[in-house]
Amino acid sequence: MTANREQLSKAQRAELKRLATPERPYVTVNPIKLFYTLVRMNDPEWRLTIAALIGSFLVGCNFPAMSVLLGILIDVLFLPVGTLEEQRHLRHEADFYALWFFVMSLVILVAQFGKYYAFGLAGERLTHRLRDQVFRATMRQNIGWFDEDAHSSGVLVSNLSNDPQSVQTLSGTLLGSIIEFTVNIVAGIAIAIGFNWRLGLITSALLPLQLYANKKRTDILMKGNQATKAYYESSAQVACEAVSAMRTVAVLTRERDVCEKYHHDLEVPLRIGTRSAVTGSIIYALTQGVNFWQNAIIFRVGGAWLYPRADGSTLGGLTLRTFFICLMSSTFAAMACGRVFSLLPDVSKALESAHDILAILRRRPKIDNYSEEGSTLDPQVVKGHIRFEDIQFRYPTRPDVKVLKGINLEVKPGQFIALVGSSGCGKSTSIQLCERFYDPSGGRVTLDGVDIREFNLRSYRSVLGLVSQEPNLYEMTIRENIALGYPIDAPPTEEQIVQAAKDANIHDFVASLPQGYDTMLANRGSGLSGGQKQRIAIARALIRQPRVLLLDEATSALSSEDEVKISKVLEQAAKGRTTISIAHRLSSIQHADRIYLFMNGRIKEQGTHSELIALGGEYYNMALQQSLA
Ligand SMILES: Nc1ncnc2c1ncn2[C@@H]1O[C@H](COP(=O)(O)OP(=O)(O)O)[C@@H](O)[C@H]1O
Ligand SMILES: [Mg+2]
Repeated sequence: MTANREQLSKAQRAELKRLATPERPYVTVNPIKLFYTLVRMNDPEWRLTIAALIGSFLVGCNFPAMSVLLGILIDVLFLPVGTLEEQRHLRHEADFYALWFFVMSLVILVAQFGKYYAFGLAGERLTHRLRDQVFRATMRQNIGWFDEDAHSSGVLVSNLSNDPQSVQTLSGTLLGSIIEFTVNIVAGIAIAIGFNWRLGLITSALLPLQLYANKKRTDILMKGNQATKAYYESSAQVACEAVSAMRTVAVLTRERDVCEKYHHDLEVPLRIGTRSAVTGSIIYALTQGVNFWQNAIIFRVGGAWLYPRADGSTLGGLTLRTFFICLMSSTFAAMACGRVFSLLPDVSKALESAHDILAILRRRPKIDNYSEEGSTLDPQVVKGHIRFEDIQFRYPTRPDVKVLKGINLEVKPGQFIALVGSSGCGKSTSIQLCERFYDPSGGRVTLDGVDIREFNLRSYRSVLGLVSQEPNLYEMTIRENIALGYPIDAPPTEEQIVQAAKDANIHDFVASLPQGYDTMLANRGSGLSGGQKQRIAIARALIRQPRVLLLDEATSALSSEDEVKISKVLEQAAKGRTTISIAHRLSSIQHADRIYLFMNGRIKEQGTHSELIALGGEYYNMALQQSLA
């Protein structure tokens, strides 16, 4: 048992080490880079940003100015008050400096207001602009990019709402606070040294230690948080799996094991958390102590220097006033040293967001639907001659699996071909290559003899129509759903919409609805039957008058009654255009000009239905199973 525990903790230690030095550690703050990035992102709001920065600077001057005023006031309070004249003088002096405090209060009022107003406004505009740009950039990315886990819809949606927000915090309140504290520190030191360089140097001597200790503490806490977060996520995963598969856990009587595993997963973060809490606390206590050491030194050294020498002068001409100014300004500076690093975690998180935003804004995918390059196609001239020439393909996210291993096929203009084969053999992949969702790893797809990579992507896709198994309608009116298919930016005419609906055999149904084409599809069409939804999707594909029609199991999800009806609609729609159809049920593709039987990424058999039946191979077996032979 002990040995086991020892072994486990060794493995954990290795894991800990890996987590402590993750692939992407939190972004360390390079002040120049940070400033440059922020200025660039805030470019359109530069006037507001400058106003806000000036406001922050003035707010930062508050404490240093106060330390000077307080020092002077101490002097005033020690003025003699023996005679009436002297009392009046004291009163006058006190009033005068009270007025200064009042002036300062006005400056602070204006500066704080200006700072928050300008940062607030600039920040709102910045978030709005960034969200807009990030979403636009997201829409530009290729399908392979969306296959990656890091770009799953959940992650993208959360990034879209969080990243611009955290950059806004960075360029707003955070930047303001950084400037404020920096002015506190620099002006504090400058004032102390300016009033009495000897005492100033001594009082400032401990500030670097203060800064270093605060930075160290923040680093430790941040690393600890990062490491424990990973463990908590993994333990949450254990809990989630167990609860969601509770029946299996119960059947296998594994409740105790699951608890044991959960308990074990919680122990590691506890240990990391304890360790970073202990180290962090020690350093925190140290930084708090440093403040008082500083005061002790000032009183010990400065007190001795205040004592008049034989000739009545003090060392370096130190007076009570300068003594207090040094004391106050260095105390304020020390406080700012502590506070400036408390911003570090937020800054680091925001920098990470800024980094992610810049990364997506700059990314130009190879398959770029915003690209203006490539030759444009004239839909009137396109013949629709598709060829696959020795196509090899691996999905970018699964480079070790070769999905297509040399596919050669040809669809002459106006022909109807069918792809059949068991699931997972690469049929849908072939259709996706036709749509240029991906580029093949080897070989080429051609349209009318030209490699499809040479066409402008938008122009190329606009001559294709795709109907897949799931209709994927949107929460809009029926009219808008059909119009989505129209390839030109201008909206289609009423006649075009009605014609498409008639071609999809849905017009009569839509016309019978109380609101006709203006019927809203609540919940993406949950009120409609599968066949009705699919017909709207077909109308959406047909309104673009595609030269090439791609059907990926368009009837598989339907009831057998709907299947027959929709197969007829599609048969009609395929007339006069090149069609590639994937079908589960062979009955719908018997009449195809050519049938390709896929097996394991290769074409195993090809020919017409009767040729393949005569061959007596795989296709014949499939047909037998479906009682078609
Ligand atoms: N986006 C993807 N990323 C990685 N692998 C995929 C992806 N889509 C499909 N595959 C894999 O490619 C192979 C072929 O899939 P597909 O073309 O969809 O087969 P089907 O013939 O059933 O339509 C399968 O092994 C499948 O797991
Ligand atoms: Mg498929």
